Amino acid sequence: MTRVLILGANGQLARNTTRYFLEHSDAQLRLYLRRASRLANPDPRRVDIVEGDVLDQSTLQAAMRGQDVVYANLAGSMAQQATSSVAAMHATGLRRLIFISSMGIYGEVPGEPYRSVLDPYRDSAAIIEASDLDYTILRPGWLTRDEAVDYRITQKSEPFRGRDVSLNSLSDLIAKLALTPGLQVRSSLGVSRG
Ligand SMILES: NC(=O)c1ccc[n+]([C@@H]2O[C@H](COP(=O)([O-])OP(=O)(O)OC[C@H]3O[C@@H](n4cnc5c(N)ncnc54)[C@H](OP(=O)(O)O)[C@@H]3O)[C@@H](O)[C@H]2O)c1
Repeated sequence: MTRVLILGANGQLARNTTRYFLEHSDAQLRLYLRRASRLANPDPRRVDIVEGDVLDQSTLQAAMRGQDVVYANLAGSMAQQATSSVAAMHATGLRRLIFISSMGIYGEVPGEPYRSVLDPYRDSAAIIEASDLDYTILRPGWLTRDEAVDYRITQKSEPFRGRDVSLNSLSDLIAKLALTPGLQVRSSLGVSRG
């Protein structure tokens, strides 16, 4: 049974993926977020909740102990958060990281020039790619609430295809990545509706 630490657990995609893990796997989840009182525990037998900021090394390292996989669902100061996450994983001996980024960070979307609003996503991805961790970076298109699981993957060397992707599609992929050893390790994947 895999233990998954979810960083930024009150995020829209993180909440959807928490539900998805609970419904589709036997994974144990640790939800890490600021102001934890915002989140009710959806299943106390399988979920525990830790209050903390990803930039707080000691709290983050304590939360990582005993976990198998880190799934980072962050926003804002992404480069600092990536640096902090990589450092805490090194300190605690964790290797598997799934990190949510955005489409467009390599200028890989046909017809769309790179925009500086993506700098935090590009810079955090570069920090993770420079690490020795078993990472998978996901670059989703626009998130939709469409229920369907329907997505295609493009590798870093390929142009991004499509525009949007459902939350459920991403949650399905995140769960597969977390629970399948070696799947798409050291990859940066574009994810969009097929
Ligand atoms: N919406 C789209 O169409 C789209 C498309 C592609 C990519 N993305 C990106 O995909 C990522 C996930 O999406 P989402 O909708 O789940 O984002 P979200 O709802 O904005 O969630 C991001 C979470 O990161 C947390 N966070 C930020 N700084 C933190 C810190 N220092 N310590 C702990 N937690 C911190 C926030 O916590 P607080 O609640 O405490 O602020 C928030 O809950 C985001 O980066 C988003 O920009 C979105």
